[in-house]
Amino acid sequence: MAHDLRKLGFKKVFALKGGYQGWCDAKLPLEKKIVIEKDCITCHSKVTPDIVAEWKLSEHSKNEVTCGVCHGESHYTSEDVEKVVPVTPDKCTKCHDTQGKQFKKGKHAMAWSTMKVFPTAHWQLMASVEGSEGCGSCHRIGLKSKSEMKKLLKQGAGFGLASCDVCHTRHTFFKKEAQQPQACQTCHSGIDYPQWQMYSGSKHGVRYSLKQMGILPESVSAPTCQDCHMANGNHEVRAAWGFFGLRPDIAGDKEWEDASITIMRALGFLDEKGQPTPKMDEAIKHGLFRKDSIEWGSERVKMVEACSRCHSVHFTESELKKGDRMIRQADILMAKAINCIAELYKDGILKKPQAFKFPFPDFLQPCEAPRRIEQLLWRMFGQYRMRAFQGVFHQNSIYAFRHGLSEMERSLCEIQELAQGLRSKSREKSH
Ligand code: HEC
Ligand code: HEC
Ligand code: HEC
Ligand code: HEC
Ligand code: HEC
Ligand code: HEC
Ligand code: HEC
Ligand code: HEC
Repeated sequence: MAHDLRKLGFKKVFALKGGYQGWCDAKLPLEKKIVIEKDCITCHSKVTPDIVAEWKLSEHSKNEVTCGVCHGESHYTSEDVEKVVPVTPDKCTKCHDTQGKQFKKGKHAMAWSTMKVFPTAHWQLMASVEGSEGCGSCHRIGLKSKSEMKKLLKQGAGFGLASCDVCHTRHTFFKKEAQQPQACQTCHSGIDYPQWQMYSGSKHGVRYSLKQMGILPESVSAPTCQDCHMANGNHEVRAAWGFFGLRPDIAGDKEWEDASITIMRALGFLDEKGQPTPKMDEAIKHGLFRKDSIEWGSERVKMVEACSRCHSVHFTESELKKGDRMIRQADILMAKAINCIAELYKDGILKKPQAFKFPFPDFLQPCEAPRRIEQLLWRMFGQYRMRAFQGVFHQNSIYAFRHGLSEMERSLCEIQELAQGLRSKSREKSH
């Protein structure tokens, strides 16, 4: 759709070569009286006045990083908007080398690719999201290939390619905004990753919000998400345990190790004999969990450093160990529930869904098993187990216990009861 400059409020519009429009502005000094179309700001003050106003507040405007630096200068009329160059993290990295390189190595840069490789990671979302369109609202923070970008642009999605602007909202690109925990809220709130809800209800979050309200002085101590996850401004964001809370090597703890293997089998990362599958390679490649205790440990060390700015190392380490112990406890409950259903498949009491490769629950195909007993299992893993350990790590015992561990215990009881019922029904039938 072509915009008529006259309709945008420009007076004295005249025609230029190629069907373009130009205008004269009486308010401008004499030498600039005839404004031709290359002037982004003059025209956009009318076309998109709020964007120009925002840009004027930015450090970029003070440093002559003008519109064309990011968007290119090929488009300069209302008729050639498709010539605007998409803004990617590479563009920002040209001037912000440190942040750009760190970002690329971190977990956020992978958000786009993991979403495509593991489309059923959020069990609840699958019910409400058709295809993978909705996933991009959060996972757009990840890097995209050139051909993906082309495809997205073709589909009319000329938005969401920049990644950096999810925390530094365009066009102010403030550092101050990205430093607030609310910068993370838009994505880290959900059924299986309610970090915002956990943090904002914790001692840390409540105290920080009292600071934001001006009730507590600026100098009192209260950590933000960024203090713990982006200490020293490090843009390489990653957690030791990660989303799934798994690690291939938990040596020296047989009970936990067995439970962990059971979960990895349900995720299809290990096969029936406990051998790694191609999915395991994908999972490691996409950083779904740390490869070994060394990789895991290097993230843990960073976290201990971040906490010990305010707490003693001794306090910090024992608090973090509580989180590890919660994962252990949750895994053991989880394994009991998984094995209970696996035995029903094996004994022919519950029919194994056809799509499952082994007579074993398959967490990555939750929709294939719509029966109550299996749905309870999916929820136990995808919601309650997540909340149990995330809640401890984010100092929120309501999530850790009420919405986490105790819901797991309740689900396990119910699964065992349902299994018992199915078994006695099947015994009755065979008599
Ligand atoms: C003559 C007026 C005019 C000039 C000069 C101009 N633009 Fe635009 N620009 C427009 C119009 C009109 C649109 C379409 C707005 C719409 O879709 O509502 C647009 C859209 C855009 C968009 C959004 C593209 C999209 O896909 O939504 C960007 C970015 C942009 N211009 C940047 C620039 C830059 C950078 C310059 C200077 C090199 C510039 N513009 C110069 C009129 C202008
Ligand atoms: C530091 C880089 C940068 C500068 C400078 C910049 N922009 Fe943008 N602009 C962006 C990013 C990033 C996006 C979002 C693109 C995306 O999501 O893929 C964007 C999007 C846009 C859009 C389309 C989205 C919308 O909300 O309508 C317009 C129009 C636009 N910019 C105009 C301008 C104008 C006019 C200026 C100068 C006053 C300007 N930009 C300066 C980075 C920049
Ligand atoms: C042509 C160079 C250039 C490009 C391209 C560029 N910037 Fe900047 N940016 C600057 C300069 C110069 C400053 C001000 C000095 C400083 O803070 O380094 C700045 C400042 C910033 C700040 C700090 C603002 C504050 O409130 O203190 C952020 C955040 C930022 N840029 C993000 C981005 C993002 C995101 C992109 C890409 C969409 C981008 N920049 C593209 C040059 C650039
Ligand atoms: C509301 C925002 C949001 C939406 C929508 C969303 N995700 Fe996520 N996703 C996240 C967040 C945040 C994480 C990381 C949570 C954590 O680590 O606790 C995540 C994690 C993941 C992971 C695990 C990544 C890893 O390395 O551990 C996968 C896979 C994934 N999402 C796929 C998807 C798919 C597929 C969809 C669409 C069906 C989707 N997501 C929709 C926010 C979202
Ligand atoms: C997950 C949120 C997030 C994302 C995504 C993000 N940033 Fe930042 N950025 C921050 C935070 C938080 C700070 C403040 C760090 C600190 O306290 O020193 C910051 C600071 C900055 C600064 C100012 C550095 C300084 O101290 O002067 C620049 C420049 C910057 N980021 C550029 C980028 C670029 C470029 C990208 C994309 C490659 C990006 N950021 C992506 C959160 C983010
Ligand atoms: C006081 C420090 C602290 C604060 C504040 C904090 N986190 Fe965390 N976060 C942690 C620790 C500790 C872990 C677990 C690290 C590990 O795996 O060893 C974690 C883990 C995570 C994970 C991985 C999955 C999980 O929950 O275990 C995500 C995602 C995350 N945090 C996001 C956030 C967001 C978003 C905020 C703010 C709303 C936030 N965190 C606030 C300390 C913090
Ligand atoms: C635009 C949405 C979005 C925003 C904003 C966002 N994140 Fe994330 N974050 C994600 C997604 C999606 C993932 C999962 C990445 C993947 O799939 O590999 C993630 C992953 C993480 C992880 C890594 C968990 C792991 O598996 O190791 C941490 C930690 C994290 N985010 C913290 C933050 C913090 C802190 C902020 C705010 C400063 C923030 N995020 C802002 C979407 C977002
Ligand atoms: C910026 C400073 C700061 C950082 C960083 C920080 N804390 Fe705190 N923490 C506080 C303050 C202040 C309190 C409230 C006073 C108190 O209870 O000691 C607190 C309280 C706590 C509490 C008690 C919560 C309650 O409900 O009473 C725990 C547990 C805790 N922090 C653990 C951690 C862990 C673990 C980390 C790192 C992952 C961490 N903190 C990082 C400042 C910080």
